[in-house]
Amino acid sequence: MGISVVAMKLRHVAIRRLSVVGMFVAVIVVFQCCWTTYYSVLDAGGSSVALPIEVSISGTSEKKGVFRSTSATNVMLNATFVSHSKEYDSEKEADLDHELESDGGRNSREGHIPNNKGFKVGNHKDAIYSFTQKRPKYAVLSASDMLLAVKKPSNESRIQSVEMESQNEKPQVLKSPLSMSKSKPKMGTSSTRSKLVWPTSITQMNSLMLQSFNSSASMRPRWSSRRDRELLSAKLEIENAHAISNSSGLYAPIFRDVSKFSRSYELMERKLKVFIYREGAKPIFHQPKMRGIYASEGWFMKLMEGNKRFIVKDPRKAHLFYLPFSSQMLRVTLSNPKQMEQHLEKYVELIAGRYRFWNRTDGADHFLVACHDWASRITRQPMKGCIRSLCNSNVAKGFQIGKDTTLPVTYIHSVMDPLKECAGKPPSERSALAFFAGSMHGYLRPILLKHWANKEPDMKIFGPMPRDLEGKKMYMEYMNSSKYCICARGYEVHTPRIIEAIFSGCVPVIISDNYVPPLFEVLKWEAFSLFVRERDVPSLRDILLSIPEEKYLALHLGVKKVQQHFLWHKVPVKYDLFHMILHAIWKNRLSQIRPR
Ligand SMILES: *[C@@H]1O[C@H](CO)[C@@H](O)[C@H](O)[C@H]1NC(C)=O
Ligand SMILES: *[C@@H]1O[C@H](CO)[C@@H](O)[C@H](O)[C@H]1NC(C)=O
Ligand SMILES: *[C@@H]1O[C@H](CO)[C@@H](O)[C@H](O)[C@H]1NC(C)=O
Ligand SMILES: *[C@@H]1O[C@H](CO)[C@@H](O)[C@H](O)[C@H]1NC(C)=O
Ligand SMILES: *[C@@H]1O[C@H](CO)[C@@H](O)[C@H](O)[C@H]1NC(C)=O
Ligand SMILES: *[C@@H]1O[C@H](CO)[C@@H](O)[C@H](O)[C@H]1NC(C)=O
Repeated sequence: MGISVVAMKLRHVAIRRLSVVGMFVAVIVVFQCCWTTYYSVLDAGGSSVALPIEVSISGTSEKKGVFRSTSATNVMLNATFVSHSKEYDSEKEADLDHELESDGGRNSREGHIPNNKGFKVGNHKDAIYSFTQKRPKYAVLSASDMLLAVKKPSNESRIQSVEMESQNEKPQVLKSPLSMSKSKPKMGTSSTRSKLVWPTSITQMNSLMLQSFNSSASMRPRWSSRRDRELLSAKLEIENAHAISNSSGLYAPIFRDVSKFSRSYELMERKLKVFIYREGAKPIFHQPKMRGIYASEGWFMKLMEGNKRFIVKDPRKAHLFYLPFSSQMLRVTLSNPKQMEQHLEKYVELIAGRYRFWNRTDGADHFLVACHDWASRITRQPMKGCIRSLCNSNVAKGFQIGKDTTLPVTYIHSVMDPLKECAGKPPSERSALAFFAGSMHGYLRPILLKHWANKEPDMKIFGPMPRDLEGKKMYMEYMNSSKYCICARGYEVHTPRIIEAIFSGCVPVIISDNYVPPLFEVLKWEAFSLFVRERDVPSLRDILLSIPEEKYLALHLGVKKVQQHFLWHKVPVKYDLFHMILHAIWKNRLSQIRPR
């Protein structure tokens, strides 16, 4: 079975003429400085695990950098970067997620064959970076990802699309229509029966969330604290928030309850105090990576650590405790998921031993923000009580709605100019009904193409677009001028397309069963996006055509209005992405607080 998978990968590689062959893993890393040497010691103060790592990366034209890491198992990583100009290198993280899980499904990769992807990333100067990394342990090929950089006429760079999902999923049972529909999951075909993952509709997710907010599943703290009492009083205030007529700056239709949100946000600004553990050494801890596909975790870390309003030096004053690690750097530094998990375990031991806060709630008032595909897996045990803000928010794989929260995938190209609103065309000038372009990662996209590539003139459904400037421009052009942008899952449930679509004014059509969309706790996703079940790909066009123009216009307006909540600012502004992520964490913590 493993063989066939490898063979499949080989074909992919051949087809795409990728330069990455053999035992390679591609990792997206955004390096912000050149020729740096890191020493990773879990606790900067001494003791714990020491991982000497030498990272050298060229930042200048055509130089090569060599990345070496000697981890506990003496796995030698060797990566070559080719970089142009002063742009940072990016690497695409391969996903070895399935290694952690034996799914027993037909398409499972038995024999622990990791799926590695070579990768190319274009920057705003259209430089192509290739990154390869040797991983002696894994005999695998890398299939490269298509990358679609959004190239602006100016030298600003924009969002771009790269698949980032791990190739680990068995085909799930493909299911029923629009999220709005109330249909219940049914049994799939016999071949998939062994270990079914029921797709969860948005409607079901909504009720899961209500249940979670209702239940008192979280543990009762070992002792009460004044901070919890403050949270409780905030919670009561929010519950009794009266309807606001017109909250300035908020567009009510895209919120579940704009009054409660507005009140909750206001109280967060006034009351919330966060303590950041100083423990943990670079590069895994305290070293934000501001670019690339995992940039969300880096931006959050950077803005959180630099924040004045929320941070307290005295942990006794904190309502929440931030575990400031980068899942991306963890992946780059350590060789396998087991080690990554152990590293986090040691960290938890360290802070639980040194402070009393962890033990009070077993981490329920602690949180992490992590975007790497594996983050969900490697934190599930050591940090299971924590509020986890994760990009890979698969409700069928341990993501707990109401406790965990979804981190949006924001692909950042230029630190100078992170995600920026880009106008896109007005609805009347959007001639294509639907657009998709991308590599055939995962099981779903081939189905999408089979049904819709070259079928109808208004369905612009493509495989990978050319990597060159022309291709990137074309990609952006399509996003700009289509009514609906298809965000089909790849290897994993999440994809950067959703945010790309939002910034192009294109209504996202999310085809990814079990994906919990970002900011789900407060946003009413149905007001600015569509959810189509994976099994309904064959009727995709009918579904889209059945949306009345009026509803489309409302969705489009919703998309425009939600943009501000997905924007990063170097100096955070009200209701921006930094605050929205923090608010989601605050909200989930509040929901766990009960009167004693
Ligand atoms: C790493 O790559 C460099 C060239 O990029 C090569 O000289 C070196 O021998 C490699 N080291 C290992 C351990 O593969
Ligand atoms: C690139 O941006 C810089 C400043 O952001 C500007 O000074 C320069 O003129 C731009 N170059 C081009 C080719 O647009
Ligand atoms: C949650 O609790 C409220 C009142 O406490 C109740 O009306 C509601 O039905 C509950 N919802 C769920 C999903 O249990
Ligand atoms: C809120 O403001 C919008 C425009 O900003 C307006 O259309 C709407 O009528 C207002 N709603 C109320 C209740 O004042
Ligand atoms: C917290 O609990 C762990 C294990 O139960 C223990 O080793 C540690 O000493 C405790 N921490 C404190 C500060 O008491
Ligand atoms: C997208 O649309 C906006 C507004 O019409 C335009 O300014 C921009 O140049 C377009 N970008 C591309 C790549 O077509």
